[in-house]
Amino acid sequence: MKRVLITGAAGSIGRCLRQHLQGVYDELRLADIAPQAPAGPGETVVQTDIRDMAALEKAMEGIECVVHLAGIPVEGPWETVRDLNIDGCYNAYEAARRQGVKRFIFASSNHAVGFHKRENLLDDSVVPRPDTRYGVSKVFGEALGRLYADKHGLSVACLRIGTFRDHDAPLESRQLLSWVSHRDMTQLVQRCIDHPEYHYIVAYGVSNNRRSRWNNDGVAFLGYQPQDDSEVFAEAILAKGIVEDPIAARFHGGFFCPLEFTGNVDRID
Ligand SMILES: NC(=O)c1ccc[n+]([C@@H]2O[C@H](COP(=O)([O-])OP(=O)(O)OC[C@H]3O[C@@H](n4cnc5c(N)ncnc54)[C@H](O)[C@@H]3O)[C@@H](O)[C@H]2O)c1
Repeated sequence: MKRVLITGAAGSIGRCLRQHLQGVYDELRLADIAPQAPAGPGETVVQTDIRDMAALEKAMEGIECVVHLAGIPVEGPWETVRDLNIDGCYNAYEAARRQGVKRFIFASSNHAVGFHKRENLLDDSVVPRPDTRYGVSKVFGEALGRLYADKHGLSVACLRIGTFRDHDAPLESRQLLSWVSHRDMTQLVQRCIDHPEYHYIVAYGVSNNRRSRWNNDGVAFLGYQPQDDSEVFAEAILAKGIVEDPIAARFHGGFFCPLEFTGNVDRID
């Protein structure tokens, strides 16, 4: 893969990838609706709205691999989730198909499986259990990836990203499980871009955290070897003595689970 497009390139993960992947590929095309720093060597900057299929198609001309990050990264009103993470995500896959893109890397989320109990270790085979409308949109993006892989031969990687933060450190106890460092996130995306062949995969975007509850054995062939462990932050975080919300503490999705919650927590197996 020599020509790579990143959507959502002006965001937290996009800026990190831009910084670390500069010069690695013949062309790094950086698309976002927001303004971006001017293009450096090997870069092209385009202002693109993922709600606009024609604009996305144009942005993907000549591109071999798309890294699709653009959208709303948290829970939001249905209209926003639908426009950006459902319609926008469809536009991105469909524009990729029309432009003959070979590979699509989708920024999914741990919130696609957030209502699994935390006592259970999750791998790439667990059923979807979204914890929010946002989580549903990520299940949709993974399902679309499966469809485009099987029906159209697109090579697809869905990354269930844990917690990536600009400050590159976990801040609270759940993030000791879910944290992904900048260099590990970059390494995972790069492995997914560079690997010569796969059809459809799901990987967890998580560092080598001692407390991680996510298992990447199913994608060991990628050679992803995370370098960082959140444990170095554990003492300071736990010393704060902040007690997690009881519903949040029960499930993988953490505080996304109790948002707007009106269910019966004991019925969630
Ligand atoms: N940061 C995390 O911890 C985390 C965890 C799980 C999943 N993810 C996923 O990774 C992706 C990137 O996350 P992030 O933290 O960098 O989010 P972010 O909000 O920092 O970046 C998202 C980018 O998308 C752009 N965008 C929004 N609407 C757009 C539109 N209509 N057209 C084009 N661009 C648009 C924004 O301008 C922004 O630059 C998201 O899809 C998010 O759901 C992030």
